Amino acid sequence: MLNNRNIQFVILAITILGLSSCKPQSGEKNEDKFALTPLNYAHKISAKIDSLLTLMTLEEKLGQLSQLNNAGDKHIDSVTINAIRKGEVGSLLINRRNFYSIEERNFYQKLAVEESRLGIPIIFGHDVIHGFRTIFPTSLAQSCTWSPDLVEKGAEVAAREAAAQGVDWAFAPMVDVARDPRWGRIAEGYGEDSYLNAIFGAAVVQGYQGADMSATDRVAACMKHYVGYGAAVGGRGKQFTDISKRTLHEVYLPPFKAGVEQGALTVMTAFNDINGTPATAYTYGIREVLKKEYGFKGFVVSDWDAVKHLLWHGIAADTTDAAQLALNAGVDMEMKTIFYKKLKEALAEGTVAIETIDDAVRRILYVKYKLGLFNRPYVKKDNTKELFLSAAHRKEAREMAAASMVLLQNNNNVLPVTATTKSIAVVGAFANERDVMGWWKSTGKFEDVITAFDGIKSNASNKVAVTDKIMADTDIIIACLGEPSHYFGESRHRADITIPAEQVEFLKSLQKHNKPIVLVVFNGRPLDLSNVTELAQSILIAWHPGSETGNALADVLFGYHNPYAKLTASFPRSVGQVPVYYSRRNSGNPNGNKYVDLSGEPLFPFGFGLSYTTFEYSALEIEKNKIPVNGTLKLSAIITNTGDKDGYEVVQLYVRDLVGSTTRPVKELKGFQKIRLKSGESKRVSFTLSTKELAVLNKNFEPVIEPGGFHVWIASNSTEGLQGEFEIVE
Ligand code: NOJ
Repeated sequence: MLNNRNIQFVILAITILGLSSCKPQSGEKNEDKFALTPLNYAHKISAKIDSLLTLMTLEEKLGQLSQLNNAGDKHIDSVTINAIRKGEVGSLLINRRNFYSIEERNFYQKLAVEESRLGIPIIFGHDVIHGFRTIFPTSLAQSCTWSPDLVEKGAEVAAREAAAQGVDWAFAPMVDVARDPRWGRIAEGYGEDSYLNAIFGAAVVQGYQGADMSATDRVAACMKHYVGYGAAVGGRGKQFTDISKRTLHEVYLPPFKAGVEQGALTVMTAFNDINGTPATAYTYGIREVLKKEYGFKGFVVSDWDAVKHLLWHGIAADTTDAAQLALNAGVDMEMKTIFYKKLKEALAEGTVAIETIDDAVRRILYVKYKLGLFNRPYVKKDNTKELFLSAAHRKEAREMAAASMVLLQNNNNVLPVTATTKSIAVVGAFANERDVMGWWKSTGKFEDVITAFDGIKSNASNKVAVTDKIMADTDIIIACLGEPSHYFGESRHRADITIPAEQVEFLKSLQKHNKPIVLVVFNGRPLDLSNVTELAQSILIAWHPGSETGNALADVLFGYHNPYAKLTASFPRSVGQVPVYYSRRNSGNPNGNKYVDLSGEPLFPFGFGLSYTTFEYSALEIEKNKIPVNGTLKLSAIITNTGDKDGYEVVQLYVRDLVGSTTRPVKELKGFQKIRLKSGESKRVSFTLSTKELAVLNKNFEPVIEPGGFHVWIASNSTEGLQGEFEIVE
């Protein structure tokens, strides 16, 4: 029998051949025993993994495929503790409600690293979605900044705080393209557009993992939910989907490809089925597309109970069958493991091969190596006090929150609040509400939220009275309405997506004061605002802005921040229009795109958002009107700030493929730029479009660049813009 010391010796003997300069000495601290130096790091990981694999028992291998969690309010129980000691726990999932102290986290890790036979560290996972302790706006809100750099910085802050508390792995970004605002999880992704989800998903991966993902302030990212979850029928989260092969490849898969290219270490499967195959048993998607075609090297984890759901989906006969289906499909780790314990039986029955188990173990160990967990399994220094809600982190959260607020209506330029204003009334259900951190709050606390009222009061000039009642001398009413966090998020779907009725009644009751009204909406999803546009001069979409809610709101209302956010998901006129999105496929009769009782167009389209200044687009120039099949095209337009304030404008580039072998969307976003213009200033903004970006999947689903005509727009939103044309020629 091998004892611990002998095993270490064998591992060293196998793994350090040719690396004598960095050979660990016997008796060295356990945490260094599989250490990789920068010299051997890149190309020796797989040798290290191979050598470990040769030493692992089946139980230890299956242990790596298991993620256990703390049940309910309890922390880890004795069964789990024993399993860790035996090396049979690959990962622990930390719930928000009973977050571990650093000591507790290190204690579990010590059991794995110092008491288990092989000392393989645990990877600790947690839902870090839009902040850890300093809470940023929801992901959907963040996408409205159209600023990948800001989103990356926000993810960096979240990673720093989470890693300080011992989180190694964040279950984000969610890149599920979402076109149904009834779906509560639309708040967790980056809107209705595939291209934007790809860009922001990659930005989050970069923000979490950084250039050196083994650094103490980084965590592994998890692209989720693979794949097509946003297409759940009727916006009801755990429903089936009906996704055509074309839509799957053109819309739902590309953000995952982008995440893999960015180096995302993990991917989580979805709850839905894809045309009859549950995502957690989706061999084609996981093995063929993700692992083979995209070259994904990390591991795939199931969602919570998703392996069990294979029974409920009615495709697995029993627990062993469910486990083998998931593993064979390419799901390497089971979240909240129950069923993967049955893989031993599946192996004995021959429905699972040891090579498949080994491949899964290999992928999990690879991620642990990449994260530096073998070298640095413990949180050594507690710097949470300096980091959590630090001035620097709050500043980032405030900037992001202000930058994500979308101004949809501003009649008579009621906003920004002018210097002559003497009295502001801040009223409504959300005026003093702290539940504005979204559905995933991680360790965010209500008491750390700056409310709308407090933020407005503390940022107003001392000559302005800020009250919570409407007085005779009130100059402007800020009505804060919206939906609480339990109206959206996981399993929180709505059939009626208007502002709750009693709040609309309240807004109506404000009309009698005959004062200008600014409606600030705190929402998770696109809402149907058609019943409130007449009841307020200005409408500002604040989303759920997080810890810095009131400060960020004040920045926007007082004009310290000139809004530039634009919608990344269409706001419908009625739930009856849903799904309504800008890039619908061209139809035989475009005039048929309406209802007898309503237009087919949304109330506020994708890409739309106002500023306190105005911009004019002119002088579109297209370098040439014919380009070769593998050429590039430069196009530009002059944007002029025609208003009296400096500001940013998000300039968007759309194309339409006029004639192809298959029907194409009426518009597709192909680029955007955020530019700053002083009042009166003009700039020529240029884009370079490569024909590769215009490639389509032909009838055989091969990517091809098809010759033919295109329309192109340089535009301020998806319904306007300067239109030109060009042609790809053979
Ligand atoms: C279920 C959710 O669908 C997923 O997004 C989340 O990461 C896991 N639970 C873990 O909490």
